[in-house]
Amino acid sequence: MSGRFRVQIAPSILSADFAALGAAIAAVERGGADLIHVDVMDGHFVPNITIGVPVVRAIHKVARVPLDVHLMIEEPDRFVEEFVTAGAAMVSVHAEVLPHLHRTLHLIKALGARAGVAINPSTPVSALEDVAGDVDHVLVMSVNPGFGGQTFIARSESKIRAVRELLEKNGNPAPIEVDGGVDATTVARVVAAGATILVAGQAIFGSPDAEAATRGLRAAAEAALAAR
Ligand code: DX5
Ligand code: ZN
Repeated sequence: MSGRFRVQIAPSILSADFAALGAAIAAVERGGADLIHVDVMDGHFVPNITIGVPVVRAIHKVARVPLDVHLMIEEPDRFVEEFVTAGAAMVSVHAEVLPHLHRTLHLIKALGARAGVAINPSTPVSALEDVAGDVDHVLVMSVNPGFGGQTFIARSESKIRAVRELLEKNGNPAPIEVDGGVDATTVARVVAAGATILVAGQAIFGSPDAEAATRGLRAAAEAALAAR
């Protein structure tokens, strides 16, 4: 199975110095980041408020790799177009807030971005069943969304396996993204379970050398993928 997938490292700027985002992005790009993960929070769906469209637009001007925008907001349909116009190449929306998930995914695709569904730790994989053929990626939350630096929830490993099975059953080669508590101690487990897009905030920007941390995470993930 490993031959079909490649590891993608997506540093989450939530843990970066917001006063120096350009330098933070440049550092992880030097370390080989494939994507920049942008956590958008509205203070309603999650108990935190972070950044919005203007910041995405600004970092899009300086980032050389695609922006992976994770919308932790209550009404994503109202904002999807603005985020794509601002530079989002990938948009993940939460299944928990969308009664018309299929419509939202196709809206994202029609705008020209890759469409992903994110599920919280307490949301069953069955929430994805009827859109498993429509997604460009699935984002498995391995912490409760809202904050960086939380502890990886071990149950996420079997959840990643179940999502992989569901995608295979639907003939969809979409990659699985894992978000929350991914670091040197957990990365091999999530890759072995079937995730290949690896979001990491604290493990990268909480380290004194974000460039080296990005490189280190990739090496660990690639070794786990080769062994899969
Ligand atoms: C949490 C965010 C994550 C967060 C991950 O709600 O979606 O992207 O930045 O941070 P770490 O890697 O520190 O758990
Ligand atoms: Zn995220």
